[in-house]
Amino acid sequence: MMAKTVDKKILQAKNIIDIETMNVEDISLILDTALSMKEIMSRDIKKVPALRGKMIANMFFESSTRTRTSFEIAAKMLSADTVSFTASGSSMSKGETLLDTVRNIIAMGPDLLVMRHASSGAPYFVAKNINIPVINAGDGRHEHPSQALLDLFTVREKKGKLKGLKVSIVGDILHSRVARSDIYAFKKMGANVRLVGPPAFIPDYFRQFGAEIFYDMEKGIKDADVIIMLRIQIERQGKNFFPDIREYYELYGLKENILCFAKDDLLVMHPGPLNRGVEIDSEVADGKHSVILDQVTNGVAVRAALLYLLLGSRTDENID
Ligand code: CP
Repeated sequence: MMAKTVDKKILQAKNIIDIETMNVEDISLILDTALSMKEIMSRDIKKVPALRGKMIANMFFESSTRTRTSFEIAAKMLSADTVSFTASGSSMSKGETLLDTVRNIIAMGPDLLVMRHASSGAPYFVAKNINIPVINAGDGRHEHPSQALLDLFTVREKKGKLKGLKVSIVGDILHSRVARSDIYAFKKMGANVRLVGPPAFIPDYFRQFGAEIFYDMEKGIKDADVIIMLRIQIERQGKNFFPDIREYYELYGLKENILCFAKDDLLVMHPGPLNRGVEIDSEVADGKHSVILDQVTNGVAVRAALLYLLLGSRTDENID
């Protein structure tokens, strides 16, 4: 049996659309609730009745491995039913609009919508026009809030704290929704955030987020507690952003021989999918500092917490 109840406090947010507008109390509540969810994951029987009778619609208009699967597993762990929608093979190919498609799925009775879309802002637009909670599972280059929450959870789990840590986010910041959500999330929780990469990937306006900018890898990861490597988002780039993969790997790839610039107990993170030999060397991705697969495991716990807090905790506090 686990601890009797999760926190009785109620999430103030009605939707999980971004980290930018999420308050620290909500972030802390989600992280604490995820701890209880992780305990459920360690049981022989990984199922509790908290969301029995609830239905989650997963609408992914863009491809996903980790986010989609973890929301599905999280829902099943809480005994919710799930329905999955993919744009390919749907009536969108016959000209149906996004909102009409969403409204038709909602007419079938789901209680919560998880949505990924290639257009920044799509989940805001949908949330304004429907009356069930929406979780943004990644919108364009804007935000990926559940990824940032699982990143916070993983770092807090490994380091025991977030405040004061030096977190270096390296790579294609410009096109990354994970970078935006992580910057907001780690800053809100008191960490020092650095952005590292070539100037074309970190326009000057990123200074407004309160992060330090480094164009030199060794300086950018110096004394880092955490390095978050990002994939180069080729699918969101124009033609001229990225001249040469080999040169990029030489200058900004995370390789064993430069880890000495960071702290000895460094955590290496990556939201995935990772490109070995482009932004990260295999030795590092699979090495002793890597918590990349812990992030994936924790994604289930954090997403279960989000589902529970949006749907379950208002009526049913007990997740025994
Ligand atoms: N980190 C992440 O969003 O991975 P997927 O695209 O596989 O969901």
